[in-house]
Amino acid sequence: MKALILSGGTGSRLRPLTYTGAKQLIPVANKPILFYAIEAIRDAGIKEIGIIVNPETGPDVERALGDGAEWGLTFVYIMQDAPRGLAHAVKISQDFIGNESFLMYLGDNLVRDGVTEFVGKFRSSKANSLILLSRVPDPQRFGVAELDGDRILRLVEKPKVPQSDLALVGVYLFDSSIFHAVNQIKPSWRNELEITDAIQYLIEHDYQVDSHIIDGWWKDTGKPEDVLEANRMMLEYVEGSIHGTVDESSSISGRVVVEESAQISRSVIRGPVIIASGAKIQNAYIGPFTSVSREVTIENSEVENSIILEGTQIVDISTRIDSSLIGKNVRLNRGKQKPKALNFVLGDNSSVEIL
Ligand code: DAU
Repeated sequence: MKALILSGGTGSRLRPLTYTGAKQLIPVANKPILFYAIEAIRDAGIKEIGIIVNPETGPDVERALGDGAEWGLTFVYIMQDAPRGLAHAVKISQDFIGNESFLMYLGDNLVRDGVTEFVGKFRSSKANSLILLSRVPDPQRFGVAELDGDRILRLVEKPKVPQSDLALVGVYLFDSSIFHAVNQIKPSWRNELEITDAIQYLIEHDYQVDSHIIDGWWKDTGKPEDVLEANRMMLEYVEGSIHGTVDESSSISGRVVVEESAQISRSVIRGPVIIASGAKIQNAYIGPFTSVSREVTIENSEVENSIILEGTQIVDISTRIDSSLIGKNVRLNRGKQKPKALNFVLGDNSSVEIL
């Protein structure tokens, strides 16, 4: 069995961060979202992974992941010229997959409990496909399944009026009959070849499509608030360890990771928190559910429930920063000159909230 990870797409709802990088490389608990998918696939015993990339972010994704040797896996990169849909990504992967069954994993999804159970269930069944479903409060954001008992009646992509609260999770299992289906369907209203339509084709043509409702935590990290929620969830699993330097006038409580060469002085850190190497925290408060990336400086400021990316400096900010996703090399500091005014240089699609 092989796996396919989809790491193309546009990431439009995560702008401006996605102007300069792939959404699947945004870190939660200081680890790129994509790495969780790779680990889940490895843990399920699959060794070969095809990774769908696009021309814009493909080089970054390749640089971050390499050839798979680090995980004991083999990666093959498959270039998709434009985001033509999930079923299009399957279509262009046929040479890589051959006649094998495969697991398809959307690179912006996180499934807390991994995929081993579902891979096992599919392998021991005669099904042509196994789809995972999860109950959600906002089904119109997802592909939605209508069931009659265990039987799938219909799958609809982002329905305006959802007929159930069962969303399609971005993890699918297929045998090679899916290649026939993706070649039969037509592009949808958003001009994409939809995987929901391809699975619907299988259902209508008497292929066996099984479903499994998962009750563990799952997230599609499409929007900033989803990324912050994913960060909170993954920080729940972090074990505390201090490898950097913490001075005597700092206080650390709860599960806190301070990586090598990070420096904490005159500060209060309340876990779960992770502070990466080279970060400098001075006279600051870092509150629960905060991930601080490498080479970040936080001085005379308070931050909680946030993700701060590489190289950013937060200095002398008197109001606590909360529920924020701050990109790389951002500078947030107090102005030294009058007039007392807010002064911004913000990229397109930035969002700032001031009370
Ligand atoms: O997250 C679950 C949902 O994912 C399902 O409920 C939906 O049925 C499914 O269509 C999908 O919906 P999204 O609108 O969230 O898909 P998105 O465009 O965000 O793409 C999902 C991943 O696949 C993302 O990592 C980008 C990648 N992708 C997407 C497209 C359209 C590609 O690699 N190529 C593509 O052409």
